[in-house]
Amino acid sequence: MVKEDKNIVIFGLGHMGLPTAALFARNGLKVVGVDINNENVEYVNSGKSPIMEPGLDELVEEAVSHGNLSATLDGEEAAENAEVMIVIVPTPLDNENNADLNAVKSACMTIASAIKKDDLVIIESTVPPGTCDNVVIPLLEESGLRAGEDFNLACTPERALPNNTIYEITHNARVIGGINQKSAEYASSLYKKITTGEIINVKNLITAEMVKLMENTYRDVNIALANEFAKICENLDINAVEAIKAANHHPRVNIHTPGPGVGGHCLSIDPYFIVEMAREKGLDAPLISDSRKINESMPGHVFNIIEESLKEVDKTIKGSSIGILGVAYKGDVADARESPAQPLINFLKDKGASVLVHDPYVSPETIKSFKGMPVTLEDALKCDCVVLITDHSIYKELKPEMINKGVLVCTRPLLDPESFISKGIIFKGVGIS
Ligand SMILES: NC(=O)c1ccc[n+]([C@@H]2O[C@H](COP(=O)([O-])OP(=O)(O)OC[C@H]3O[C@@H](n4cnc5c(N)ncnc54)[C@H](O)[C@@H]3O)[C@@H](O)[C@H]2O)c1
Repeated sequence: MVKEDKNIVIFGLGHMGLPTAALFARNGLKVVGVDINNENVEYVNSGKSPIMEPGLDELVEEAVSHGNLSATLDGEEAAENAEVMIVIVPTPLDNENNADLNAVKSACMTIASAIKKDDLVIIESTVPPGTCDNVVIPLLEESGLRAGEDFNLACTPERALPNNTIYEITHNARVIGGINQKSAEYASSLYKKITTGEIINVKNLITAEMVKLMENTYRDVNIALANEFAKICENLDINAVEAIKAANHHPRVNIHTPGPGVGGHCLSIDPYFIVEMAREKGLDAPLISDSRKINESMPGHVFNIIEESLKEVDKTIKGSSIGILGVAYKGDVADARESPAQPLINFLKDKGASVLVHDPYVSPETIKSFKGMPVTLEDALKCDCVVLITDHSIYKELKPEMINKGVLVCTRPLLDPESFISKGIIFKGVGIS
């Protein structure tokens, strides 16, 4: 159904949009990426990736040099010259924890000004259930064309994992819902060009929207359970991670890992989309809401652990130096969106600590925007209390003799507590008694 000469426009050249654009381009389609950030556009047009992602630099360079990928700020012109428009723009939360759909709306309005008969519009952004029906369709129909009759519409939420994005886009199963069967088949034939993963066609647009939210909510709730277990284990003679690992030997148990909180652009946001939709329908979602509360309480819990650890050396948060290791929301990535490090740094600063931050990947500007002072690893390790927040691989190399003042708070299961405690280090952390 999809010919090699199809022109695709992808709105949003970010962590998910750019790899998707480059993969379609590598598979022979002509792709134009649209972004509102001129720096991203210039990067891509010079054959480079503005996103840190294994394999992406090479992919973008190849696609641009073959003339299959280019980028522009002009979405309307790009859409006029294309038959397929894919929307992969951000969907953050607003101040009331409701979905901020402004970027999706803006992309849809641009598409509406250029859409032609038989075009295909695909929503890949993660959105609250009902967004395609209640927000996207009305905006696209401003064009005067009717969804499902004059143009095709499908929803296939992106489910790839940063740091493994290219592999996952090309191998994960892809869930696709269409406004009708023709739209779903059209979208399926397109994605078969870039993935060997199974294509799962679901009943409609809203089901596809919900599948993605269920996946991330399952993981957020599971992490909340792990964090609750961890807090309880801290008061007993139990290492929570050891206990969870043992429990996971049961063939039907898969408890996730406790930590300093949940960050990133997905798990910490998507459950709220379900809560929002449930509220609109007059329903409660107590388990999902409480899980969010538990995970959001973790930076405060880590603060308390730091306070307790400093007490053991007769120090208080006020006046102490705290060396934070890692502000990325997870290991070996540069992404610090919604990172639990941010509220923790704020709590520490508010109580009068000086907060020195090392992160090998996150920019000094981001660290400063979190109110931390970017420093070398060596300087962070000289602090009164060292706090490991992100499981970057390099931190596995930490040794007791590197913790200058002898106080270490570890929020990830990266280090063996006994090897530090046996050398006289005060070693506390999430899930450690
Ligand atoms: N990052 C992830 O791990 C991940 C995984 C799966 C799904 N998603 C979902 O994919 C979507 C995109 O996420 P991301 O991480 O790629 O975001 P991102 O912030 O990395 O990139 C989004 C890009 O869109 C651009 N943009 C914003 N408004 C625009 C507009 N109106 N028109 C064109 N471009 C615009 C931004 O400048 C940015 O470059 C979100 O809905 C997210 O929930 C993200």
